[in-house]
Amino acid sequence: MSAVSLESFTKKYKELVEIRLDELVTGLQAPEQVKEAMSYSLKAGGKRIRPVLLFATLHAFKKDPALGLEAAAALEMIHTYSLIHDDLPSMDNDDLRRGKPTNHKVYGEATAILAGDGLLTYSFEVLCGTKGASPEKIIRLISLLAKSAGPEGMVGGQAADMEGENKSLTVEELQYIHKNKTGRLLAFSVMAAAILADATESQVRSLEDYAYHIGLAFQIQDDILDIEGREDKMGKRVGSDESKFKSTYPSLLTLDGAKEKLKSHLIKGKSALASSDLDNGLLVDIADMIASRDH
Ligand code: IPE
Ligand code: IPE
Ligand code: MG
Ligand code: MG
Ligand code: MG
Repeated sequence: MSAVSLESFTKKYKELVEIRLDELVTGLQAPEQVKEAMSYSLKAGGKRIRPVLLFATLHAFKKDPALGLEAAAALEMIHTYSLIHDDLPSMDNDDLRRGKPTNHKVYGEATAILAGDGLLTYSFEVLCGTKGASPEKIIRLISLLAKSAGPEGMVGGQAADMEGENKSLTVEELQYIHKNKTGRLLAFSVMAAAILADATESQVRSLEDYAYHIGLAFQIQDDILDIEGREDKMGKRVGSDESKFKSTYPSLLTLDGAKEKLKSHLIKGKSALASSDLDNGLLVDIADMIASRDH
C-alpha cells in the first residue's frame, strides 16, 4: 500500500483534468457543431487512466502532479480522438462508448471525423502551453507525443489492427498491434512525467520497462473484458472483437492463456519498478488496477 491511496489520488486529479478539459474546449472560437461534438466525447466520462498515470508518475518523483496538467489534458484529447475514430463505421463500427451513443451516431460521420481531427490538433496547441517547463522540455514533449500517437505509434497499431481483421495473426504480430495501438499512449503518460521531472537515465529505463508491460496488460484485459465484461459497467459493447473477427489474446491463446499472459506482464511491470529509487506506491497500485479492472 502506498501512503496516498490510489482512490483519493484518482478522485482529486481526475477532477483537476476534467475541469481543465472543460475550460479548454469552452474557450474555443469554433463552429458550434464541431465544438459540441468534441465536448460530447470528452465529457462522456472515461476512467482518465492516462492523466492519472501521468500525475502519479510525477508524484513518484515527489514533484507537484499539477505540473503535468496541460500534458495530461493534451493526452486525454488524443485518446478521445482515437476512440471517436476507432468507433466509426469504417473502423470498429460501434454504437456505444463511455455509456453513451458513439460520436458519429449523434453528430454524423463528417462531424465525428472533424471532432477527432479537432481534438488531435488542438492537443498540440494545449501541450505548447505547458506551464513551468522550459521551451526545450516542451519540444521534447511535443516530439514524444507526436511519435507515440502517429504512424510509428498508435496510428500504426490501429492500421495493423484493421489489416489484421479476418486473418489469423501470430502472437508477435498481435503484440505489435497491442503495444502500438494502446501501449504507446499509456507509455506517454509515464515518459512525459519523466521529462518534466528530469529523470535520470536509469529511472527512464525502469519506467520504459514498466510502461511497456502495463500497456500490454491493459490491452489484454480490454480483450478479456470484450468477452467476459459487463456492458453496463464498461459503457461499451461486449463481443465487439468476435463480431469483427479480430485477433485478440483470448482468440489466439484461449481465455486462460490470455489471463496467464496478463499476469506475467503485471509481474514484469512491477518488478521493473522494484529496482528504481522512485516513490512507487501509486504506480504499483495502478498496475494492479489495470490487471483487475472490470471496466
Ligand atoms: C479504451 O481505453 C481503448 C483502449 C485503448 C483499449 P480506456 O479503457 O482507457 O477507455 P476510457 O477512456 O476509460 O473510456
Ligand atoms: C482501440 O482498441 C485502441 C485505440 C482506440 C487506439 P479497441 O478497438 O480494442 O478499443 P475499444 O475496445 O473499442 O475501446
Ligand atoms: Mg479498434
Ligand atoms: Mg474498438
Ligand atoms: Mg477492445
